[in-house]
Amino acid sequence: MNARLNIRLDRLLANLGYGSRREIQALARNGRIALDGQILRDVEKRFAVHDDFAARLTIDDMPLDPLPGLVAVLHKPVGVTCSHKEAGPLVYALLPERWRRREPAISSVGRLDKDTSGLLLLTDDGAFLHQAISPRRHVPKRYIATLDRPLRGDEAATFASGALMLNGEDKPLAPAALEPLGAQQAALTITEGRYHQVRRMFAAVGNHVVALHRVAVGGLALPDDLAPGAWRLLDDAQRAAVLQIQQA
Ligand code: URA
Repeated sequence: MNARLNIRLDRLLANLGYGSRREIQALARNGRIALDGQILRDVEKRFAVHDDFAARLTIDDMPLDPLPGLVAVLHKPVGVTCSHKEAGPLVYALLPERWRRREPAISSVGRLDKDTSGLLLLTDDGAFLHQAISPRRHVPKRYIATLDRPLRGDEAATFASGALMLNGEDKPLAPAALEPLGAQQAALTITEGRYHQVRRMFAAVGNHVVALHRVAVGGLALPDDLAPGAWRLLDDAQRAAVLQIQQA
């Protein structure tokens, strides 16, 4: 197995938000760090860190946080913002507190509006983030929109045309697939990520979105058993599913 990292343990733990290197050395001196059940005092030593390291290393008898390179799926509730800076409740407050001090930092993979709920990916993996949001990859995002007015019947053709121009833009939208689910509800799959795109698309056909929920990104659906506000880590197959990479 190849090592994912070769790193001084105090640096790894500092990067995971456990404290400054000095604080981590104090934890080790006090016998609070263990590897395979044995107290580990030399945290200046380099370790070849494999995927199983997080399960082997404990701090105060608790398994280590996920190693750098994580991807999590969060069921974003309405009313929280995808931002590190804005006032008000932030999606990051739904993650473990220590994760806010991780380096590299965790950020959302694209954004959902404050009023949108559903599947939000969070990662500290720059390569994954880049692939998932790259316009060239056309990762589909599926939403359920609840509308203020009944569908007229021509929306699917307009959205599929590849000619719809949003207000204030000079490039038409890529074709998008609309599937009516009821008089005032539809599933919409888009492959771009323009600002307020779904709400603006329905505004462009004379409607108004009253509720918006993202149910899938790429081949990954929001798990039915993930309650609003809850999150879980993705495994390799689920990460590949997001990017629609076929695994051997
Ligand atoms: N489109 C929107 O209008 N809002 C979102 O949150 C996502 C897509």
